[in-house]
Amino acid sequence: MGRQLLCDLSDARRTVSVIREYLPDVVVHAQALSDVERCERNPHLAQAMNVTALSHVVQALEGLPTLLIALSSDYVFDGSKLAPYEEADEPHPISVYGRTKWQGEQVTLSRSQSLIVRTSTLFGLGRVNFCDHIVTQLANGKTLDAFDDQVTSPTYTEDLASAIQALIEVLPTCELSGLSSRIIHIANAGACRRLDFAYQIADELACSRTQIRAVSMVHSGLVAQRPRYSALATTYIAHLIGRGLRPWQDALKEYLSQRH
Ligand SMILES: NC(=O)c1ccc[n+]([C@@H]2O[C@H](COP(=O)([O-])OP(=O)(O)OC[C@H]3O[C@@H](n4cnc5c(N)ncnc54)[C@H](OP(=O)(O)O)[C@@H]3O)[C@@H](O)[C@H]2O)c1
Repeated sequence: MGRQLLCDLSDARRTVSVIREYLPDVVVHAQALSDVERCERNPHLAQAMNVTALSHVVQALEGLPTLLIALSSDYVFDGSKLAPYEEADEPHPISVYGRTKWQGEQVTLSRSQSLIVRTSTLFGLGRVNFCDHIVTQLANGKTLDAFDDQVTSPTYTEDLASAIQALIEVLPTCELSGLSSRIIHIANAGACRRLDFAYQIADELACSRTQIRAVSMVHSGLVAQRPRYSALATTYIAHLIGRGLRPWQDALKEYLSQRH
């Protein structure tokens, strides 16, 4: 394992000194405030964490040949397309989170040696996520609510990381200037409603689907609006790395077997 350095990205000077000390070949920027409700309630914090911190990284990389890959989100879209979003589709965010992620994209793309990776509805080891919440509720015999009017592309963090790794490996033969887009969608194949995602977990764990209550996102009382449809088209990443990501159901099955 490589050397580990801690860096508060809200501190511009510290960010410069860490990057200049380490001189990385590649920076994968995964820092963000991804709590959509918290962003809506605190737009200044969202701006600081999703835009300003990223701009510190971009400033710190000035003059360096480092490849910057910054993660972004399906929430840059408004959800009105109702078909998988392509990289070329125009963002139209409907939340503070989505708007600040889009601003972050623009900060990233202002630097030539940089890529955006948009992904969606992450589950994986580490931080408690939507999937873990469902598992806990089902295991405790409790009922839970899941939206029947929001469709996304659930994505396993292991698969996202391995696709990013594969992308980094093919890039020397595929110079950034030769890319048709510096925005790349990476998600597990397929899309589903949050409700279907919860049903799939129940099925995998041999729990009853009756513990899951279908509710409407639109009437849920959430402060931030979410796109009702934000599946991501992933033919471009498949073309770049020579393979598509597996279906989200297969990735979920593996995750559920690993988290026990
Ligand atoms: N979660 C999703 O479903 C989802 C969907 C689409 C796109 N994305 C994007 O994927 C990326 C990762 O999201 P996530 O949900 O995995 O986020 P997360 O779990 O909240 O992780 C964010 C990371 O940022 C770090 N961080 C926060 N403030 C920092 C600072 N000032 N300096 C240095 N590090 C800082 C956090 O460190 P600590 O651990 O120390 O707090 C944490 O490790 C983001 O770009 C997000 O927009 C996420």
